[in-house]
Amino acid sequence: MTAASLKTPAELAELFAFYASAGVDEALEDAPVDRFAEARPRQAERAPAPVAPARESRAEQRAPEPGLNRMPERLAAAPGLDVSRVPDAPARPAAATVPDEGQIMLARQLAASASTLDELRQHMAAFDGCNLKFTAKNLVFADGNPSGDLMLVGEAPGRDEDLEGLPFVGRSGRLLDLMLAAIGLDRTSAYIANVIPWRPPGNRTPTPHETEICRPFIERQIELVNPKVLVNLGGPSAKTLLNTTEGILRLRGNWRVHTTASGTAIPAMPTLHPAYLLRTPAHKKLAWRDFLEVKAKLRGLA
Ligand code: URA
Repeated sequence: MTAASLKTPAELAELFAFYASAGVDEALEDAPVDRFAEARPRQAERAPAPVAPARESRAEQRAPEPGLNRMPERLAAAPGLDVSRVPDAPARPAAATVPDEGQIMLARQLAASASTLDELRQHMAAFDGCNLKFTAKNLVFADGNPSGDLMLVGEAPGRDEDLEGLPFVGRSGRLLDLMLAAIGLDRTSAYIANVIPWRPPGNRTPTPHETEICRPFIERQIELVNPKVLVNLGGPSAKTLLNTTEGILRLRGNWRVHTTASGTAIPAMPTLHPAYLLRTPAHKKLAWRDFLEVKAKLRGLA
């Protein structure tokens, strides 16, 4: 059964409901489309000697090509940004792959120049250097109270988070809320963000390069919030922010330190991601132990 073989709106609605319940949330065409062929005449007009990349993802194809090699004008005017310190990205044909080293440097510069969370959010919203932005519906910046003592950082938004523009609002978010409630906290007393602020298409794992591009933003976000305690939800958050390659089952339950760019040492507790706990409920007891550690640490620091 395909959408084309269905006749009535009711039949189509039934099919789409089936897709949604099966987790299918990306619409792809049956036959591959050569987007390079579509782009070729336009590139030929612009660039005398275009070099086609070996492979390009759908996300990259959708990214606005001319913005890749230079800083967007609205970013050049961003408050607090010292444009002279932003290195020029190497000149390339418009269709070259994103992200690149120049965009990592730009992300670093932008993040460092933000002196408030609002400024950081503005810089991130205007930043075009991460391909994930072009398949996501919303920037998922944060939720909760930035003046709270606790900050939790997950990996990347999923479908529900992308639609709402808020972290942890789907099934794993509901479990996270229960875990917080169990230690007497909620989103009025804790602050929640992700390493990656844009949903990877189809919830795929972010690439290491995408993570490096987004890393300066989340590091600056932590620095600006300056929580008393950080919780890393899952392996990707722990590995990125605690600079380790150890697996989460080894890391969890042991205090680590996240050191900000300005040298502040923040106690960090790596724990299991709520999505993992939904799949592996037998491990909830481990996360419970970790959250009790967090509660005790917050008490001790009060
Ligand atoms: N998983 C995450 O890591 N972050 C979210 O915001 C939602 C699910």
